[in-house]
Formats: sequence, C-alpha cells, structure tokens
Amino acid sequence: MIIREFKRQDVKKVLEIELASFDDPYPANVLVDIYNLGAGFLVAQQDNMVVGYIIFWIRFENDGHIISIAVDKKYRRTKIGTRLVETAQEIFKKYDVENICLEVRKGNRGARKFYRNMGFAERTPVTNYYEDGEDAVIMDKFLEVEEPEVPKKTGNEHKIP
Ligand SMILES: CC(C)(COP(=O)(O)OP(=O)(O)OC[C@H]1O[C@@H](n2cnc3c(N)ncnc32)[C@H](O)[C@@H]1OP(=O)(O)O)[C@@H](O)C(=O)NCCC(=O)NCCS
Repeated sequence: MIIREFKRQDVKKVLEIELASFDDPYPANVLVDIYNLGAGFLVAQQDNMVVGYIIFWIRFENDGHIISIAVDKKYRRTKIGTRLVETAQEIFKKYDVENICLEVRKGNRGARKFYRNMGFAERTPVTNYYEDGEDAVIMDKFLEVEEPEVPKKTGNEHKIP
C-alpha cells in the first residue's frame, strides 16, 4: 500500500468511497474545489486502486484541520486510515502545525475510537452541528514539536568575543 498525492483522475474513485461512507457526502465538484484551494489531499493506493483518502488543511496559523477521511469498506481495519492520518501529521509538522482538530458525528463510535486510538482527545460536543440535527464531537491532538538537535560540547569551542 502506498500513500500518494491526489490526482484529478482519482476523483471518481474518491467519490465512490465518499458516497459509500457518508450519509451527507461532499459532491465531486466540492472535492475538486477543496483541492484547488490548496488543501492537503492524499490517497491510499493498494492493488492498483484508490482505497482511501484524507483531506486536510491549515485553518489558522499552527492549527490543522482534518476535513474528511474515508477508507473503502472492503479495506477497513487494515491500518490504511492510520497511515493516512500519520502521513497528514508528518505534513502538518513540516508546516509547524501544533494542533490538529476535527469534527465527528457523536453517533460515529467507530471513527471516534479510531481517532482516540491515534491520540486525539474528545472535547465538549457541539449540539445540532450537522444539518440533520446530530451533535458533533470536537476532537483534537497536540503535535509534539521536535527540538532542534544541540551539538554536544567538546570543550574546544571558540569563545564568542
Ligand atoms: C474511520 C476510518 C477512516 C478508519 O479507517 P481504517 O483504515 O478502517 O482504520 P484502521 O485500520 O487504521 O484502524 C485502527 C484502529 O482504530 C480503531 N477502529 C477503526 N475503525 C473502528 C471501528 N469501526 N470500530 C471500532 N474501532 C475502530 C481500532 O482500534 C483499529 O485497530 P484494530 O483494527 O487493530 O482494532 C474508516 O472506518 C472509515 O472510512 N469510516 C467511514 C468514514 C468516517 O466515518 N470517517 C471519519 C469521519 S470524521
């Protein structure tokens, strides 16, 4: 399985997964618009097929947001979702993002467990968040900032005048 950047020709398969995964899917034009606006868009490819995707962006400075993630039903529970989130995290880190957040339907227990498993914490639910009236649970995760390596002192350093 490889994780790679989304290409326009992937939109059909991404849409198929989106339609099979959500009751309120994003239409194809919205997916392409989000991509054109510069959002991060990665796909997981296995058996020469797109089997999952993740869309994410930097909402405010240092504040990352996962817009959507889904894996083809036949390929779930094989750590593809985990790899997609891990790869997005690596990209966020490169842009100095310190916090990632997302909204998930309160009733989507599988996804909530998936995110908790990846170190996300659940915050106060937002009532009536979705059009059908379901509450959202906000989840977030602080990314560890990697400290730059400090060279060990040898005792032979030049003194700064
Ligand atoms: C959520 C989703 C992306 C997870 O993708 P995945 O590739 O199946 O997840 P992984 O295989 O990486 O799961 C890692 C761990 O998360 C947890 N997990 C994942 N899906 C779960 C589920 N449905 N129920 C309970 N735990 C789950 C498990 O601990 C799992 O480890 P395990 O399989 O060894 O027990 C996938 O279920 C999906 O596409 N769901 C529909 C779309 C959706 O709800 N997206 C999130 C909207 S915010």
